[in-house]
Amino acid sequence: MSRLKEATAEHHRKAEKRNLQRELAKGTLALDVFVAYLGELLHLHRSLETSLTQSAAEHPAIASVFRPHCSREADLLTDLAFHDAPRRPANVMTQKLVADFEAWARHTPLSLLGALYVLEGSGNGNRLIARVLSRNWSLQDGLGLRYMDPYGDEQPKLWSQFREDMNTAQISSSDVDNILAAAQRTFDGIAGISDVVYQAQG
Ligand code: HEM
Repeated sequence: MSRLKEATAEHHRKAEKRNLQRELAKGTLALDVFVAYLGELLHLHRSLETSLTQSAAEHPAIASVFRPHCSREADLLTDLAFHDAPRRPANVMTQKLVADFEAWARHTPLSLLGALYVLEGSGNGNRLIARVLSRNWSLQDGLGLRYMDPYGDEQPKLWSQFREDMNTAQISSSDVDNILAAAQRTFDGIAGISDVVYQAQG
């Protein structure tokens, strides 16, 4: 996990600087842009979670890290229904990242853990951002923000568990390299998705 943090630090910084992410963190993002972003994340999580579930049967390292609470599809569907979001096809950047997830699932399944690290780790910042959003958008009881804060007060404990699961999983050094590259690609992909959503809605 320390290698992942180090290898992706610059990618995290770049992702954080996208207009969509900056305005999200400040709580000034337009609600319809946020909802469009959640729609893209639904495509990403669906693909990733399907591949992780299928790969877990053959790869004990995946089974030991991808615990049931790590799935976000149901939270996204709940939030999208709350916001009355129309179903939208994935944008071109999301399609590209989904294509990479599918290729990893076929050729280097452990790479999927790099994508899971990025999305699960994003909960560290999202939890703080959810507080700002619920205040600015007057959303009560976390309604419409389940994706942003799925674990509530359990988040630090579950993040520690994720870290421990990753650190203790039996992973070959070539798969460690694959995971690092996949995490970098996932950060960059989400940065690109953020830009496309922001430009399309802005
Ligand atoms: C403005 C937007 C963002 C803010 C303010 C933010 C903030 C944070 C904060 C405060 C942490 C905890 C740092 C620590 O305790 O060491 C964190 C960690 C993390 N964030 Fe973000 N973040 C943002 C965007 C993103 C995005 C877009 C992603 C991924 C798509 C992401 C993925 C991660 C990951 C994977 C970690 C865990 C790093 C590690 O400890 O290994 N973040 N973020």
